[in-house]
Amino acid sequence: VTTAPNRPPPAPPGIRPPILNGPMHPRPLVALLDGRDCTVEMPILKDVATVAFCDAQSTQEIHEKVLNEAVGALLYHTITLSRDDLDKFKGLRVIVRIGSGFDNVDIKAAAELGIAVCNVPASSVEETADTSLCLILNLYRRVTWMHQALREGTRAASVEQIREVAGGAARIRGETLGIIGLGRVGQAVALRAKAFGFGVIFYDPYLPDGVERSLGLQRMATLQDLLIHSDCVSLHCSLNEHNHHLINDFTIKQMRQGAFLVNTSRGGLVDEKALAQALKEGRIRGAALDVHETEPFRPARRQPGRCAGPSPPRLLSGDVRAL
Ligand SMILES: NC(=O)c1ccc[n+]([C@@H]2O[C@H](COP(=O)([O-])OP(=O)(O)OC[C@H]3O[C@@H](n4cnc5c(N)ncnc54)[C@H](O)[C@@H]3O)[C@@H](O)[C@H]2O)c1
Repeated sequence: VTTAPNRPPPAPPGIRPPILNGPMHPRPLVALLDGRDCTVEMPILKDVATVAFCDAQSTQEIHEKVLNEAVGALLYHTITLSRDDLDKFKGLRVIVRIGSGFDNVDIKAAAELGIAVCNVPASSVEETADTSLCLILNLYRRVTWMHQALREGTRAASVEQIREVAGGAARIRGETLGIIGLGRVGQAVALRAKAFGFGVIFYDPYLPDGVERSLGLQRMATLQDLLIHSDCVSLHCSLNEHNHHLINDFTIKQMRQGAFLVNTSRGGLVDEKALAQALKEGRIRGAALDVHETEPFRPARRQPGRCAGPSPPRLLSGDVRAL
């Protein structure tokens, strides 16, 4: 095979050749796959690209023109791009995950196909940490339950009535918060939780020695140690091929009797059936979930002690502009 001078040799079949200098198309097609609101992207890209939206939940719903011609794909977390999905895109060069986690994209397959994958890791660190604290405080101080009681007409007047409505509210000072995954969000949660009086411990096997000292936190050597010592467990690790259903029947049994569980990270980290059973049996006193394995979340039945976040922090309009 002869190649023109200055041209890279042809790529093996199935792999897109490297991008040559200069644009491949005067107006490349960029598509938002799982949304329809391009008001942020449009003014930025309008002079250099054609911007389309697909509002799709799967690649089966994506128009053929996008599959054949899109050079760039933007996506939130509500569509998954497996190897087979990526294969359907004939001209794709770059995927941008509008957000931090990229567990919904097969990045290994993307790399093999010559498609770059970018994320926006700093996007909503503080908002997610703030929401995590809201959920943790709510479990301890039972604001949602008291609000619900008030809406249902309960007027607590006597001390006994107040005690009944607020039953289960617990003091925070002296409690131990266990953080699984001490990355950007996990650290922001740790700093906030300390101010409320929590003793903060964490488990993150991927961080270098000494990070616990720089942050003034206590490090646990194993997941089991963290679960045994925590009154409230908060999940902040990225979802990857090693930690699907990290919280399952076995690990829940390692948690303290009556502990709380909070997840603002990724739904796939928690086996929801095992959690539901543990809530039913009172092994877990309460759980607050901002994310679910299958979204949008449709509860089968109301769970006692369970509090599901209806509007993830990532979707607040100010955050979207920042993204
Ligand atoms: N609910 C939301 O709207 C929202 C918003 C932002 C981020 N998130 C999610 O929050 C999570 C954390 O985001 P981040 O920006 O802090 O990510 P990050 O990459 O900065 O931190 C993740 C940390 O998890 C650790 N980790 C990975 N696997 C682990 C395991 N098995 N056990 C313990 N630790 C493990 C990593 O070492 C890393 O330190 C991500 O899953 C992200 O998708 C959710």
